[in-house]
Amino acid sequence: MDRMIISGGNGFLGSYLCEKALSEGIDVTIVDDFSTSNKLNAPPEAHLIKKRVEDVSLDGNYRYIVHLAARPSPEDYIKNPVETLLSNSVGTLKLLEMSVKSKSRFVYTSSSEIYGNAQVIPTPETYYGYVSSWGIRSCYDEGKRYSEALIMAYHRKFGLDTRIQRPFNVYGPKIRYDGPYGRVIPRFIMQAIRNDDITVHGDGMQTRSFLYISDWLEATWRMITKDGIEGEILNIGSSDEITVLELAKKIVETTRSTSKIVHVAGRDDDPQRRSADIRKAGKILGWKPLVGLNFGLSKTIEWMREGDI
Ligand SMILES: NC(=O)c1ccc[n+]([C@@H]2O[C@H](COP(=O)([O-])OP(=O)(O)OC[C@H]3O[C@@H](n4cnc5c(N)ncnc54)[C@H](O)[C@@H]3O)[C@@H](O)[C@H]2O)c1
Repeated sequence: MDRMIISGGNGFLGSYLCEKALSEGIDVTIVDDFSTSNKLNAPPEAHLIKKRVEDVSLDGNYRYIVHLAARPSPEDYIKNPVETLLSNSVGTLKLLEMSVKSKSRFVYTSSSEIYGNAQVIPTPETYYGYVSSWGIRSCYDEGKRYSEALIMAYHRKFGLDTRIQRPFNVYGPKIRYDGPYGRVIPRFIMQAIRNDDITVHGDGMQTRSFLYISDWLEATWRMITKDGIEGEILNIGSSDEITVLELAKKIVETTRSTSKIVHVAGRDDDPQRRSADIRKAGKILGWKPLVGLNFGLSKTIEWMREGDI
């Protein structure tokens, strides 16, 4: 039986990946410190190690090591900059060392944030990024960039089979919506369901492109299992841009909310536009997103209405 380690496997993306791997007959071990998950999401069939990825050391043979552990919500990582940097520097190093020892395939979730305030839209993988190395978002962006550099160094120096993906704003049921952990879609939906004001940072003309969870999972599974793509770096996202203001209006309309849209202070270094050039993933994985924003939002809203909002 193949074995897989998933760091961050109790989180939003990780828990879907964990279920998929188990359904394919893989023995899954999760390493997660629950720092950004508020409850147990991991299926009981998985082995759970509740620890920081920086502190973990596992012996044994793992066919795959997938590193997702990170603090991806801006409000949260800005408050926890050191922890954010460590999980994606020391944590990445720990898992790479284990991969070399057990000859595992190493798969990493980087982020579209490595592009910073991208000047090329849609952004291809070849774009180097326009990023502050010291600003309030740098703990996340530079952690991801350092990890990419370290992974490519291990690929080149030790011949490790590595794959790096850069997801662009994935959403769907199970995404966390409370407090500083709520990213833009779940935060707007929560505010709309409660008929609270919808808080748009700045003028709302900044754009994002969103990917539904099932599309992310399909792309990720292909990246993990496909032979012959070692060393590849792929954008996993959508090229359909929407302004944050339009998104807020769409969510108010879809939820039939009486919420007002209000503008609050813009965030430092908030990227102005996000759109993924996904031609490379299309060619290499034979993949493209299938779920449109309207359908994905209605599924997410349905799930959140069933929750304890
Ligand atoms: N969801 C997205 O839109 C998106 C976009 C780009 C990149 N990503 C990346 O995908 C990965 C998963 O994101 P997500 O949306 O599932 O977030 P999430 O917060 O739901 O999951 C992250 C998980 O990692 C765990 N974790 C955090 N720091 C840890 C540490 N030091 N040691 C062990 N566990 C730790 C958390 O407890 C949580 O369960 C992250 O690396 C994130 O940066 C996500």
